Amino acid sequence: MRDSWIKKLRALLEKGETEDLKSALALASFHIDHSTRKEAELRLMLDGIGRNIPIPYIIGYTLVCGLKISLNKDVLNPGPETVALIEMASEYVVKYHSSQILDLCTGSGAVAIVLARKCNGNIVATDISEKALAIAKFNASENKVAINFMHGDLFEPVRGMVFDVIVTNPPYVKSGAINLLPGFVRDFAPLTAIDGGDDGLFFHRAILSGAKDFLRPGGSLFVECEDDQDKDVEELAAKSGWDTRRRLTNRHGNTRGFMFT
Ligand SMILES: C[S@@+](CC[C@H](N)C(=O)[O-])C[C@H]1O[C@@H](n2cnc3c(N)ncnc32)[C@H](O)[C@@H]1O
Repeated sequence: MRDSWIKKLRALLEKGETEDLKSALALASFHIDHSTRKEAELRLMLDGIGRNIPIPYIIGYTLVCGLKISLNKDVLNPGPETVALIEMASEYVVKYHSSQILDLCTGSGAVAIVLARKCNGNIVATDISEKALAIAKFNASENKVAINFMHGDLFEPVRGMVFDVIVTNPPYVKSGAINLLPGFVRDFAPLTAIDGGDDGLFFHRAILSGAKDFLRPGGSLFVECEDDQDKDVEELAAKSGWDTRRRLTNRHGNTRGFMFT
């Protein structure tokens, strides 16, 4: 299917139907505007697509909730589930005027940056990858938001701090399934951003058992998961005393995240 799509895009370029080509590219890239791209640039984009490079990595950025988030090989391209998680969390932080917010495993910084643009709270964002933090800091500065970025393993950098809200999109792919991921994910995702251990739940286990020490009483935890992990995640959450407040369901009806209190 992908091959025939690429063929169709190439045919549009060869026939000079660049307006249709730009519209097709916009649809395939979260409505990024390609209208001013010159033919040579479109040709380079099609070459990249033909080599299975996702469009955001070809052009170096994506749009998340309307904000430009630069990407490189050190961070994941935030997917629609992450965007939905951000929307669910931001609705909450705006409604309840949350003032202390943690984005755990920040990657590109997209979650923290959108939340910082939507509320007046203090935002802390952490990651174990120095390289990811470098791009997250760049994105924060380009989007003109102040975020306290901290480096380290899960809650280690925020010992002694307490938050109203914790949002997290940790790695959650089973180690043994990484080779089975589509090439365009496997080749462009840093391993530290996707590898969730043998059952994919290494980070969920640690976060669900540890997060209460970093949340004020009544605080909320927003967490993303894979679509076959919801039962296990909810079970782990219940064991650590969390109640499910909301579920994040995708268009196929699968649960891709939770709000726990
Ligand atoms: C799924 S990605 C997060 C993507 C992010 N939401 C975004 O929009 O770019 C997971 C992130 O967790 C980080 N990570 C992996 N192990 C970690 C650990 N032990 N402590 C903190 N962060 C970790 C990775 O470096 C990666 O940036």
